[in-house]
Amino acid sequence: MEHKILVLNGPNLNLLGDREPDQYGEVSLEQLEADLRSEFPDTDLSFYQSNHEGDLVDRLHEGHRSGLSGIVFNPGAYTHTSVALRDAVRAIETPVIEVHLSNIYSREAFRHFSHLAPVCVGQISGLGTVGYSLAVRWLRANA
Ligand code: DQA
Repeated sequence: MEHKILVLNGPNLNLLGDREPDQYGEVSLEQLEADLRSEFPDTDLSFYQSNHEGDLVDRLHEGHRSGLSGIVFNPGAYTHTSVALRDAVRAIETPVIEVHLSNIYSREAFRHFSHLAPVCVGQISGLGTVGYSLAVRWLRANA
């Protein structure tokens, strides 16, 4: 069966490549998406980025309704603030993996807490863009 996986990115991740490259690397979001497509040609991958919390909530609901196998989600700063995103992940049956490019536990104290981690299948933090690839691999094998 072909896997349908959504790669969902939250606020400021549209600036990937330009934004704090020491922290987040030099690969743009377009390049990250292209790399995932070429790594997983037999997976039905879709991509969405938004700077708006409610958009991300809507997208999680839609993903569930459209029968996705799983969602790879980098919620950006909303990780640390959003009860609404946590509730949305909790409300859907689709497995969600939380991904962060940087190691959130080696940074400021306010980044050490994730509202989403307890309701996600798992969390990958600090492995750069490879984290997205590992999350897709896990979903392909397990979801
Ligand atoms: C991030 C980590 C967050 O703390 C930060 O607000 C981001 C990016 C990451 O990918 O490392 O925007 O999610």
